[in-house]
Amino acid sequence: MTSFSMDAFRLDDQVVVVTGGAGIYGSGFCAALAAAGATVVITSRRQETAEEAARAITTTGGRASGLALDQADPESVSTFAATLRDRWGRVDVLVNNAVHRAGGGLFDTTAEDWDATSAVNSRGLFLISQSVAAIMVEQRSGSIINIGSIYGMVSPDFTLYEGTPVNPVAFYSYDKGGMIGFTRFLAGELGPYGIRVNCLCPGGYNPTGEPSAFDTAYAARTPLQRMATGHDASGACVFLASPAAAYVTGAVIPVDGGWTSR
Ligand SMILES: NC(=O)c1ccc[n+]([C@@H]2O[C@H](COP(=O)([O-])OP(=O)(O)OC[C@H]3O[C@@H](n4cnc5c(N)ncnc54)[C@H](O)[C@@H]3O)[C@@H](O)[C@H]2O)c1
Repeated sequence: MTSFSMDAFRLDDQVVVVTGGAGIYGSGFCAALAAAGATVVITSRRQETAEEAARAITTTGGRASGLALDQADPESVSTFAATLRDRWGRVDVLVNNAVHRAGGGLFDTTAEDWDATSAVNSRGLFLISQSVAAIMVEQRSGSIINIGSIYGMVSPDFTLYEGTPVNPVAFYSYDKGGMIGFTRFLAGELGPYGIRVNCLCPGGYNPTGEPSAFDTAYAARTPLQRMATGHDASGACVFLASPAAAYVTGAVIPVDGGWTSR
């Protein structure tokens, strides 16, 4: 057996795309991937937002660029993929992190809400995965990390929402559950090209540290007794992107303080 090097967790010289990278979880993923040495291509629907998120990394010595992408729009996706080819010539990692939210429970969701979420979370996920995987197939390597959710694995606990202004949302279970099936399908189809595909399923995130009534109930149900915060999910993202995960594909990995264990 050869010795193990911690360099296996490094992403030096790798080109990593993070969709929706200016958001809550996405900005943490981008910062961590850049800290591991990657050049991070941060996408947002607005070019200025993407550039601003990239600046947050470059001003602290990391490598990042911001590019506009609306994954609901096939033209935007093909322009984006062409820009990736022109500017970097390769893509080592795709983090499918973008999400569109609309509607509520079964009777608080309209057909328009359903179409709007599907356009981004289902059709858009398919379009961006297809375009970037085509580049990875040519280079015979790559890692796709789909950011799912515990709610793709299990149902929301409806009792936690009682007496709070927060509502469980029907589209989310459908889209995140479908993402897990899609992850497994892509792992099978793309494995022979040296492309790994995994689904990282975070738990609920509290960006402020100020617990709402829902957060308090959620934390009490969680084995680690708190919501996710800071870089709780970033390490798993870097791992799945890195050569340390060379034999990991088709996996569904919860990072949820133990939520799905009970
Ligand atoms: N926040 C949580 O508590 C939580 C919990 C579990 C899983 N997640 C998952 O983590 C991921 C990030 O969630 P978040 O809470 O950080 O979301 P967020 O709303 O902060 O960020 C989502 C990003 O997606 C982008 N986006 C929306 N529509 C788009 C489109 N058409 N094309 C391209 N980009 C688009 C938005 O611009 C935004 O930057 C999602 O996949 C979400 O399901 C979040």
